[in-house]
Amino acid sequence: MEAVIVLLPGDGIGPDVTECARRVLAAVARKFEHQFEFSEQLIGGAAIDTTGEPLPQATIDACETAHAVLLGAVGGPKWSDPNAAVRPEQGLLKLRSALGVYANIRPVSVHDELAGASPLKAEILDGVDLLVVRELTGGIYFGEKTRSESKASDLCIYHTHEIERIVRVAARLAADRRGRLCSVDKANVLETSRLWRDVTDRIMAAEFPDIEVETLLVDAAAMHLLRRPADFDVIVTENMFGDILTDEASMLAGSLGMLPSASLGDTARGLYEPIHGSAPDIAGRGIANPCGAIASAAMLLRHSLALESEAAAVESAVSAAISGGARTADIARPDQAPVSTSEMTDEIIRCLN
Ligand code: IPM
Ligand code: MN
Repeated sequence: MEAVIVLLPGDGIGPDVTECARRVLAAVARKFEHQFEFSEQLIGGAAIDTTGEPLPQATIDACETAHAVLLGAVGGPKWSDPNAAVRPEQGLLKLRSALGVYANIRPVSVHDELAGASPLKAEILDGVDLLVVRELTGGIYFGEKTRSESKASDLCIYHTHEIERIVRVAARLAADRRGRLCSVDKANVLETSRLWRDVTDRIMAAEFPDIEVETLLVDAAAMHLLRRPADFDVIVTENMFGDILTDEASMLAGSLGMLPSASLGDTARGLYEPIHGSAPDIAGRGIANPCGAIASAAMLLRHSLALESEAAAVESAVSAAISGGARTADIARPDQAPVSTSEMTDEIIRCLN
């Protein structure tokens, strides 16, 4: 097939890992005889430096006409003055909103060989295979903000239709997995969470009677994720809770660098990004873990291009490379010499071929 893929390297280690994902996609194109055209565009701090804006119109235009978008990371100390009017993160939020990608899918599974890289006990990690579905274009991230000298506010607002559509996405995913959905809220305190819970209960009872539903308050969910992570199948939650819980869940997989994400809306066009940030302290040093970005490329193949075998081949190649002993510094055992970002990628491409 022919596909146009926009690359948004962004800041920090974003360019390091995006280049790895591009190389893997190019290897997939060669092996499976597809034609992928890559178009690199600006976002985040890199875009602010060049154009003054975190999301230039040219980037939006390119993304809106592409089949899929692969992003590295945005942000860094250079642009992190909390009082700055223009910030890299605004570019990412605006892009998610512009593309209408309201469903952020973050799978968390543990490669057996990496159980030792997690700070958690191996027996707790046994059988962990969960999916967090994070609402991505609403809630406190997008509500009105105010700031004066002595006070500040961020409005958290959810509409019924935003909750309905994300719950449906999560429930459909659960139906294709182990048939269990856990909805996470803070309904003992927040009105938005009470609406979330009402809507979830209604949609699940009316449309997905066969799915087993559990509801957890977010503070308890944070605890259960560490105490009994293997019990979870699909977790659905609002924007900020999902952001926080997935960083926590990444520790199950051993490193934030391992985890991918797909952000989807009502069309096949999706935005794919590793869940890690720009890690400015290690940017450009050739030591970042490219697995999260490469696994995001696999999700791109699956969800935007409907290339399931190719997606599975990339995922198997990542597993095979890890099983073969290739480890970047974040996941290497103390007795193992870590490989570089590009060596890790070479090994994954070798396993693919
Ligand atoms: C993520 C990131 C972003 C978020 C930031 C960079 C705006 O932490 O994708 O998880 O909070 O959504
Ligand atoms: Mn985050």
